[in-house]
Amino acid sequence: MIAGSFVEKMLFHANRRFGHLVPWAVRDRLLKVLYPPNTAKPKLLTIDIVGGCNLRCPSCPVGNMPATNPTGLMDLNLFASIIRKGKREHGARIVLLYNWTEPLLHPELPEFIRLVKKEGMTCAISSNLNISRNLEEIVAAEPDSFRISLSGFNQEAYGLTHTRGDIERVKQNMRLLSEALKRHGRKRTVVSVHYHKYLHNLNEVEPMRAYAKELGFEWLENWAYYTPLEKAVQLVDGQLTADEKNFVEKRFALPIAQAIAAAEKLEGHDRCTLLEDQLVIDHRGNLNLCCTVYDLKTNRLGTFLEMDEASIAKVKSGHPTCQRCAKQNLHLYFTYYDVPELKEKYQQLAEENVARQKRDIPLPLAPAAENRAVEKASSPTP
Ligand SMILES: C[S@@+](CC[C@H](N)C(=O)[O-])C[C@H]1O[C@@H](n2cnc3c(N)ncnc32)[C@H](O)[C@@H]1O
Ligand code: SF4
Ligand code: SF4
Repeated sequence: MIAGSFVEKMLFHANRRFGHLVPWAVRDRLLKVLYPPNTAKPKLLTIDIVGGCNLRCPSCPVGNMPATNPTGLMDLNLFASIIRKGKREHGARIVLLYNWTEPLLHPELPEFIRLVKKEGMTCAISSNLNISRNLEEIVAAEPDSFRISLSGFNQEAYGLTHTRGDIERVKQNMRLLSEALKRHGRKRTVVSVHYHKYLHNLNEVEPMRAYAKELGFEWLENWAYYTPLEKAVQLVDGQLTADEKNFVEKRFALPIAQAIAAAEKLEGHDRCTLLEDQLVIDHRGNLNLCCTVYDLKTNRLGTFLEMDEASIAKVKSGHPTCQRCAKQNLHLYFTYYDVPELKEKYQQLAEENVARQKRDIPLPLAPAAENRAVEKASSPTP
């Protein structure tokens, strides 16, 4: 188990009480000082409290893989046991209520948030916000972080990469959320809009940024990438269908094949932070290998409540999926934001691709300076 230092504990409690007063960039920097890349940190609990999503985004396994994982809702008592065990045995202090699913689909979401807060832990949610169920109560429960994920300002662009989603409904729900936050005095929750940048939606970054600002939300933009790990493997193995290949080559601003090749070339980053720093659990309490994989049939490690730290380490060690992943350093493709040289390379690759597309097919793009990625990661951390 990872024991936090005295300073770390003080900072953790200060963050709970006063964290909402500290800008994100400062918090991000502090986290990096406390836990530099390539060092062990307390485990992050990533828990899908729902099995399923209302959308079918083509860059996400829910939209691009067969629906073979079990669907359903997590039981609140099971959840309570999981977070207590995570805290007690793995030093967990942060709980993410999502991985490949939509947390707002759970009718008891506010109660889940309250449980995490009662345990003195940090709570993060991320939503496509096509639904507004329990918004008022969610705000009252004060999650530390509420991320709104989207990919456009108008339906034509948004609908291409948020399949089944309705951006007008999202905008309406964003307004409802903003009003609810004002009513509740907006104490601790940091709400951020996470814009996924593709080639077709760059000209809609600015209108969405302005809308987010008007509502008082933080802004976070990133080059969209192709997930999950299973699809990245198919891509490098030449096993994508013609339609999938076309989608990957035509839609992404970050050229995915080149991004993976750049990760493969990098030396000295063998440690996979996702394997070591996270516990990824589904709505039935199954422990999964990591947050990048989707298929539970291949990557389920066991029942979390029945496993201790040693048995988890044992089943994770030398896992066949990790062995395959390591061949191309795919873990770095998924964590490039923690590797400065790769982050810089991805920015360069994306900018070059955008410039090339602009030259070949005149796209209605926003000026290059406005399309630069903000210094924030689309990492699983809040
Ligand atoms: C798979 S989603 C699940 C949670 C929720 N359904 C949502 O979309 O926010 C988990 C995180 O991945 C991010 N994400 C989804 N697709 C992405 C993409 N193509 N590129 C970068 N980040 C993405 C989302 O912003 C979200 O914070
Ligand atoms: S990215 Fe989120 S909203 Fe889109 S399909 Fe995946 S889980 Fe659903
Ligand atoms: S090595 Fe790859 S498959 Fe294994 S935990 Fe890391 S990202 Fe997941």
